[in-house]
Amino acid sequence: MKISAAIKPLGCAALAAVVALTSAFTLGAVLRREATRDSRQQPEVERWLDSGTPTSAALVAHGRTLFLDSCAHCHGADARGDEGPDLHDVQVSDRYIGNIITHGIPHEMPSFSKKLGAPEITALIAYVRSLK
Ligand code: HEC
Repeated sequence: MKISAAIKPLGCAALAAVVALTSAFTLGAVLRREATRDSRQQPEVERWLDSGTPTSAALVAHGRTLFLDSCAHCHGADARGDEGPDLHDVQVSDRYIGNIITHGIPHEMPSFSKKLGAPEITALIAYVRSLK
């Protein structure tokens, strides 16, 4: 009787410790798995494209601002074309637009991979899409 009364709290503490350790390990494993997945990631734009195109008025507006900064001097402020082509009704996929912005077109259009990150490219794709 006396012994079990003394052991009980010990048992509880041990059990709590085991539970805590197990969850810490599990969490660690999950985080590690996430980290490995991220390190062999596709380029971020592509991951985003795989998840479908989120177009919202805010995203399009953000894209338009970026477009005026980076693209308008070639494609025209209204994207109706100038040195670069009219971007209304481009018959290409989102992924293709993302790749063109990221990598550029040799001798035609610069690569923006150093200047723009995935969120910016996402917004630009949304803007070009909104032009139809
Ligand atoms: C230096 C001028 C220049 C700049 C700056 C530029 N482009 Fe271009 N872009 C071009 C030219 C020229 C082409 C056409 C190349 C061809 O047809 O071979 C083109 C093609 C494209 C196409 C493909 C159109 C199609 O129908 O296939 C897209 C989309 C595009 N540009 C988007 C952008 C975006 C978005 C930006 C800004 C981040 C940008 N461009 C900045 C010159 C430019």
